[in-house]
Amino acid sequence: MTTTTDPPAIRVQGLEKSYGDLPVLRGVDFDVAPGSIFALLGSNGAGKTTAVRILSTLLKADRGTATVQGFDVATRGADVRESISLTGQFAAVDEILTGRENLMLVAELRHLRRPGEIADALLARFSLTEAGGRRAGTYSGGMRRRLDIAMSLIGSPPVIFLDEPTTGLDPQARIEVWDAVRELASTGTTVLLTTQYLDEAEQLADRIAVLHDGRIIAEGTLAELKGLLPPARVEYVEKQPTLEEVFLALVGGPPTPGDADTATPPTSQEQ
Ligand SMILES: Nc1ncnc2c1ncn2[C@@H]1O[C@H](COP(=O)(O)OP(=O)(O)OP(=O)(O)O)[C@@H](O)[C@H]1O
Ligand SMILES: [Mg+2]
Repeated sequence: MTTTTDPPAIRVQGLEKSYGDLPVLRGVDFDVAPGSIFALLGSNGAGKTTAVRILSTLLKADRGTATVQGFDVATRGADVRESISLTGQFAAVDEILTGRENLMLVAELRHLRRPGEIADALLARFSLTEAGGRRAGTYSGGMRRRLDIAMSLIGSPPVIFLDEPTTGLDPQARIEVWDAVRELASTGTTVLLTTQYLDEAEQLADRIAVLHDGRIIAEGTLAELKGLLPPARVEYVEKQPTLEEVFLALVGGPPTPGDADTATPPTSQEQ
């Protein structure tokens, strides 16, 4: 459990970044508690990837500070890189290799012992055991994303950045990825994800920060953010299902995550 006295896993203060004349981050501040899921929510071009690239030491900020696990990204880059993994907007999976080989390759690159065992455990954890022997090029978008997330877990980094983990996926695949992200956080990993989808932030995040015009214009739990608006006047109309609910009912996919207790499809094959 995290408490308010735990030092933040990620701390961002006064972060600024311009590309030439284009100011993208204009003083961004937020903290992410260890073991929590934090969503950076913003439209296309809001600066989400820019912020993630600064936090993962791929890009230097113009001003401000950022720390990850207490390490300053500007001066302790190697320590930061040891503490994180980054899953980018486009999956890093090698299509020629099988899922299992992709995982083993990362384990070997990280000089871990028993890469085969590590691969098998992760395949099971992300419901990919049956697909593990197939070339990743044959995977659906959702399977590929799950494999990508599994790869990012090798070496057990305490902090994971997921840049738009479900962009381009169909509703069913998104739910599979959401389950994978919840699985991550359940083991105490700190997750910072970026998204342009309100429902994704709503489903996954313990706290949500809205990045707009280069600044965080709102930050809090879902309930706190909802509290920013006056409650709507209640009108007595039947609740219509959302298009997503209809779509999933028609294709026979899992129920919406709100009904997760009754979910039937196996989301984990752990023994
Ligand atoms: N290397 C670069 N050089 C110049 N401009 C850039 C560069 N990278 C990003 N930008 C611009 O900075 C702004 C923020 O880009 P960024 O990729 O951080 O946004 P984003 O929130 O991740 O968007 P998306 O949701 O489309 O991924 C955009 O206007 C983009 O065009
Ligand atoms: Mg982006």
